[in-house]
Amino acid sequence: MKKIIYYFSGTGNSLYTARKLAKAIGGAELVNVRTDPHTAPAQAADVIGFVCPVYEWDIPGSMKNFIEKLSVNPNAYIFMVATYIAILGKSFETVAQLLEAKGARLSYGRAIRCVASQCIAYPPFPPEKLMLPYMERQISKVGTEIGRKQQRNYPRMAALTRKRFDKVMVPYLAIEHEYDKGFYTDDQCKGCGICAKVCPTYNITMEEKRPVWHHRCHGCNACVAYCPTRAIQFKSPKVYKELGTLITKMLRLPKKRKRYHHPDITARDLIENSRTVDPEE
Ligand SMILES: Cc1cc2nc3c(=O)[nH]c(=O)nc-3n(C[C@H](O)[C@H](O)[C@H](O)COP(=O)(O)O)c2cc1C
Repeated sequence: MKKIIYYFSGTGNSLYTARKLAKAIGGAELVNVRTDPHTAPAQAADVIGFVCPVYEWDIPGSMKNFIEKLSVNPNAYIFMVATYIAILGKSFETVAQLLEAKGARLSYGRAIRCVASQCIAYPPFPPEKLMLPYMERQISKVGTEIGRKQQRNYPRMAALTRKRFDKVMVPYLAIEHEYDKGFYTDDQCKGCGICAKVCPTYNITMEEKRPVWHHRCHGCNACVAYCPTRAIQFKSPKVYKELGTLITKMLRLPKKRKRYHHPDITARDLIENSRTVDPEE
């Protein structure tokens, strides 16, 4: 039986989740959606999974583009698991619609709360020591359900979010690709190029041993969080300034922004584009 899970991940929460779920369903092929969808089709798969973060009340644009071009088996058991912190928006509806256009159906959808890792906007929260064990429990539950091929209606966009989507999200989506405009390196940069290698949109090239960002950014924070010398600095995009201040004040977060990534996902893990996960691994 062929099982395949497609994932997008910037700071490792979704990749960690995808790996755990692959084990829970008895092993699966894992494919990063930054690869060409024609090289990893799901036409012959019996179980197909999509795992990604919620970005701006939806799924990341490159995940959308990937699914649009992907061939799937319409009779497969298809699941989607989103990682997020507070607002799912239309993430599941987007995937369900993309599948519907291919004659396929989302059999199962569930979201997992993780550390919100958007350090270019606000300090990561809630604390890792609370969230990581909680995340583990949620993954275990989901793993059992999809291992049994359980059916579960996916979460829909809340009425209030639907009403506000266009108004609230327009300023973010309009400049999302250029979140990287405020990124720069300080003199700690050793020119190692890890930032370019972990970027899920291949948005960074190395020029004269320094990263150059090309404005195909999703603001995933991978380059910032995985820089081994913490040399990548950033000015928060204007749209995030108010939101960042509000969240920091409301939740009484420390002003210092830790550069969070999931502790079990290394830069090497993110660089890898595909792997077969064995249940015994
Ligand atoms: C650019 C960006 C936008 C985000 N937007 C949302 C959102 O709309 N709703 C939400 O609940 N979480 C949001 N988050 C939090 C992420 O969904 C969460 O941290 C996720 O687990 C990150 O996954 P990753 O570690 O695999 O990249 C956002 C994070 C980023 C970086």
